[in-house]
Amino acid sequence: MSHKLGRSNFGDPANAGNLMSIEDAHALLNEWVANERLRLHMKQVAAVMKAWAIEKENADEKTALKWELAGLLHDADWEKYPDDHCRIIIEELEKRNIDPAIIHCIASHGPNYFGVEPESTMDKMIYAFDELSGFVHAAALIRPTRYEGLEVKSVIKRLKAPAFAAQVSREDINDAAARSTYSLEELIQFVIDHQKDVS
Ligand SMILES: [Fe+2]
Repeated sequence: MSHKLGRSNFGDPANAGNLMSIEDAHALLNEWVANERLRLHMKQVAAVMKAWAIEKENADEKTALKWELAGLLHDADWEKYPDDHCRIIIEELEKRNIDPAIIHCIASHGPNYFGVEPESTMDKMIYAFDELSGFVHAAALIRPTRYEGLEVKSVIKRLKAPAFAAQVSREDINDAAARSTYSLEELIQFVIDHQKDVS
């Protein structure tokens, strides 16, 4: 099954700056996604993206909301439309006249699956954080104290153990980190710090 989107333009440039409220985004998520674990994944990526925008990109409130929305909605269609994952949420956001930067960010969150290259910093960071966030969460869940005391070096060790969370592509994680220009260690620490309290 190919998930290639087959296009490289998303949304209408005239909609730049059109966001949705975080409440509306949560409503969409609750309507489309029944699986609590998947919802948590999107909330975690949203929290990490928002924190990165504020702490590393000096984002104002509106820009931070953009990053948060991209994180919160990037897998919104995954459960209902596994064969059309990404295409359906993209079309929904286009219908709602949402800022094309958010739509492009979602379209490029897995370049090897969707065939869309990450361009903006926001694109590159969702690619860097998506798989890594899920991996860090898996590494936390198998510890009795979960995130408490979870160290970067133990996550790195698990990345090097192919049997652990075997479905997570190490190749994608390394490729995404390289494109972000940040080290895996730094990205992992950021993920731990900013998703540990998300529920
Ligand atoms: Fe994801």
